Amino acid sequence: MSSNRAVVYQGPGEVTVEDIAYPDLVLRDGPGVPKANVNRKCEHGVILKVITTNICGSDQHMVRGRTTAPQGLVLGHEITGEVIEVGRDVEFVKKGDIASVPFNIACGRCVMCQTQKTHICTNVNPERPGAAYGYVDMGGWVGGQSEYVMVPYADFQLLVFPDKDLAMEKILDLTMLTDIFPTGFHGAYTAGVKTGSTVYIAGAGPVGLAAAHSAQLLGASAVIVGDLNERRLEQARSFGCETINLKEHDRLGEQIDQILGVPEVDAAVDAVGFEASGHGEAGEQPAAVLNAIMDVTQAGGSLGIPGLYVTEDPGVSTTMRKLAL
Ligand SMILES: NC(=O)c1ccc[n+]([C@@H]2O[C@H](COP(=O)([O-])OP(=O)(O)OC[C@H]3O[C@@H](n4cnc5c(N)ncnc54)[C@H](O)[C@@H]3O)[C@@H](O)[C@H]2O)c1
Ligand SMILES: [Zn+2]
Ligand SMILES: [Zn+2]
Repeated sequence: MSSNRAVVYQGPGEVTVEDIAYPDLVLRDGPGVPKANVNRKCEHGVILKVITTNICGSDQHMVRGRTTAPQGLVLGHEITGEVIEVGRDVEFVKKGDIASVPFNIACGRCVMCQTQKTHICTNVNPERPGAAYGYVDMGGWVGGQSEYVMVPYADFQLLVFPDKDLAMEKILDLTMLTDIFPTGFHGAYTAGVKTGSTVYIAGAGPVGLAAAHSAQLLGASAVIVGDLNERRLEQARSFGCETINLKEHDRLGEQIDQILGVPEVDAAVDAVGFEASGHGEAGEQPAAVLNAIMDVTQAGGSLGIPGLYVTEDPGVSTTMRKLAL
């Protein structure tokens, strides 16, 4: 049996690389696994040898100690891999296939899945709708920043690449398909971006840049990206976006006015989440982006909010805790 080295969350600011159990087609007990899920059979699943994975902004919230992630959680929800073992009930996926794994674990059989709301599948986490690999409050499924990982409901879950050699040539780009690109696209889509829209994207991290490019694909006439990090804004400019450095300019509406001739946009996306910085030198302000996008979006416009907001933030500073009371 092969060893299985994996990235394990130990506590705020600390991860280690550990040998963990080689996966089988059963959901075993472990950190964050609800009792009702222990020993659940996954004959509809496969074992993947991981080829590529990403570190997500969502992992960083956990590693910074800003969530209630349990010690021992194996991280990694952005997985691309080769199928090396196939469960008894898998019909279409084959050994040797190379596939992308959507980060939302979903059964494909419940009402939510059948109405395309796979992020709130009701069959994969007894504690609340929705599950993900290696993620806090998402069912305790073992993550894919590891050498081997089990993926359930393989026929429904896996996006198999039709040409293996071509897939391997572009594998680093294809790794974006598990989360970053569809999350960014979903942000732009739910913000209602269409031909001619003017769009503001808060955040020039991977998700923000994917949302910005998606807005272009959806036909936006102008895409404005805001961040406090100049190097990230430079990347946004490299593919045709306008940018606003929010460290230097704290009045977002005025900056948008200088670009568009009006101080508002048709649609806006929050690609930052709860660890947002206030504009200028204000420091951390969890609602900064939500307030900003509501402020600059025209009446009747829509907002896309892929940015993460958690139910409990144990790492919040005492000052902010007092402000919230
Ligand atoms: N909903 C989902 O399924 C899903 C999936 C992936 C990521 N996410 C979330 O999306 C968010 C972005 O992910 P990422 O990987 O790009 O993260 P990231 O941390 O790399 O990027 C966040 C960026 O936001 C910038 N920022 C901070 N405050 C800002 C402000 N007030 N205005 C504009 N920009 C500001 C930061 O400088 C940083 O560049 C995170 O909250 C992540 O957890 C959600
Ligand atoms: Zn992610
Ligand atoms: Zn389902």
